[in-house]
Amino acid sequence: MACFFRRKIAAKLAKTLQQSEDVFVPALTAAPVLKKQLSQSADFRMSPETLRINGILPSSGDLQLQTENLAAQLKPDSVVEEISVRQGWIYFKLNRSLLAEKLLEPFGKGENDNFGLNSEFFETLKRGTILVEFSSPNIAKKFHAGHLRSTIIGNFIANLKQSLGNNVIRMNYLGDWGMQFGLLGAGFSRFGCTEKLKENPLQHLFEVYVQVNKEAEHSEDMKLAARDFFRQLEQHENQAMSLWQQFREITVKEYQHVYKRLGIHFDVFSGESFHQAQTQEVVRELQSRGLLKTSEKGTGVVDLSPNGDMSNICTVLRSDGTTLYITRDIAAAISRKEKYRFDDMIYVTDKSQENHFNQLFQILRTMGNSWAERCRHVSFGLVQGMKTRTGEVVFLEDVLDEARARMLHNMNQSNTTKELDNPDDTAEKVGISALIVQDFKGPLQSDYKFDWDLMLQAQGDTGVFLQYTHARLCSLMQRNEGMEAAAFNPSCLCERTGVDILQHLLRYDEVLYQSDQDLQPKHLVSFLLKLSRFVASAHRELPVKGSPPDVAQARLRLFSAARSVLASGMRILGITPVQKM
Ligand code: ARG
Repeated sequence: MACFFRRKIAAKLAKTLQQSEDVFVPALTAAPVLKKQLSQSADFRMSPETLRINGILPSSGDLQLQTENLAAQLKPDSVVEEISVRQGWIYFKLNRSLLAEKLLEPFGKGENDNFGLNSEFFETLKRGTILVEFSSPNIAKKFHAGHLRSTIIGNFIANLKQSLGNNVIRMNYLGDWGMQFGLLGAGFSRFGCTEKLKENPLQHLFEVYVQVNKEAEHSEDMKLAARDFFRQLEQHENQAMSLWQQFREITVKEYQHVYKRLGIHFDVFSGESFHQAQTQEVVRELQSRGLLKTSEKGTGVVDLSPNGDMSNICTVLRSDGTTLYITRDIAAAISRKEKYRFDDMIYVTDKSQENHFNQLFQILRTMGNSWAERCRHVSFGLVQGMKTRTGEVVFLEDVLDEARARMLHNMNQSNTTKELDNPDDTAEKVGISALIVQDFKGPLQSDYKFDWDLMLQAQGDTGVFLQYTHARLCSLMQRNEGMEAAAFNPSCLCERTGVDILQHLLRYDEVLYQSDQDLQPKHLVSFLLKLSRFVASAHRELPVKGSPPDVAQARLRLFSAARSVLASGMRILGITPVQKM
């Protein structure tokens, strides 16, 4: 365990410097495993800057000299075999046999889902109830690439938070209210077909929506009908409500099918419609707090400018008294706080909504809700060029189908593909992991270009490569079933390739910690890709077959640990690892 070693090194420092061990533990990080580095290199390192910040080293004087003096006071022992100073950092090299023994110990029974998660890094972490709101498509409108990003990013955040011991509520906040339902409702009576609605609901609703929008462009009658239908909805008239209800139910059912394919579930399907009534209370409260102003245009606004000169206003009420997207969001946030008593709330949408969420949080705070400080918007960039062979993507399902078809094609072309019970299912899982890794590789804020060929490369930095590595490790374990022993000889793992993997595994808890801090999946993605590359070298250089039994056993243990960490990391990303491909 990484924490075992951190403790040992910290104890050593504590003794020499007459300080508590705890101050050193967070300052120690696993040394990055560099290419071409000799396995003689160090395992952990510490920057003396952190010792200065913590008041352990004097805040002035020659830092380099102080560092060297400190390192010279630390005497090697049977655990920490070497202490050195390089480029201002103190490096610690551990006893390699002990490193292998302790690190691989937890994998004696094969799977270990907790590896890295029960690290001391997380001891001080506050746990609580976290509401993650993600996906949130709009009924009858296109499910665009932004919704796909929100879906997989939100799922990753929820998985990560859950793994770290929080109580997570996964919420989908559907765009299920607003003028578009006026159009849709009015349009359905003209262009709708109950049969088609049953057969292919999303497609049909979308068709009607497109048609009615076109019609409304030049027909005043259509516009009037739409406005009238929405008025009926706002007044909860039975007939209109029941049609709306039907649209919503059908759509949710369809979406659930897609979410299932993605391996994603929601605890709550909420939506804008749920909060329409509460918006009146919000407006009253804004009024009673003197926060609601009337603009020149007659709209209801909240003044968010620092000196109250109306230079930055947010509209919460139209001149005809109807409410807006943000008004419903204010109501929704307040009602969620009451209902779920969350400690943190995270919203996941594209960056075009940054301003919206800033305004939302600011209004909540001015209304006296101090918990708004613990609301956070995770935003992401745009995806360019998400297209299928048949053209522009309208529904998420089209992208999933295409990913599966392309993957199936690639699998059929490849001569390493195994005989599979259900090739479609494997192609589906691998295709989805390709989508996810492509999306998670860079910083979430960046835009990226959607590229089918690049994301499906078997040997590149792709989800396919992760799956391929996992399947290969599974098959290695299978071929050697029964050979793994409870005990193994750790001194058989001193080759560089093996040490690379061990040193890399030492970093896992730090990577998870970092991801938890900034909610960026890229740290975990690059960790797993690198692990897979180390595993590929180990496959070549550390054969199991034909090696003496104790060597074979030790190597199997190493591969089994790598497989287990790879699988649990993939699961946090939202990827289902395949056993065979
Ligand atoms: N339905 C919205 C859209 O597609 C996203 C909702 C985001 N969540 C929120 N609470 N406003 O743009």
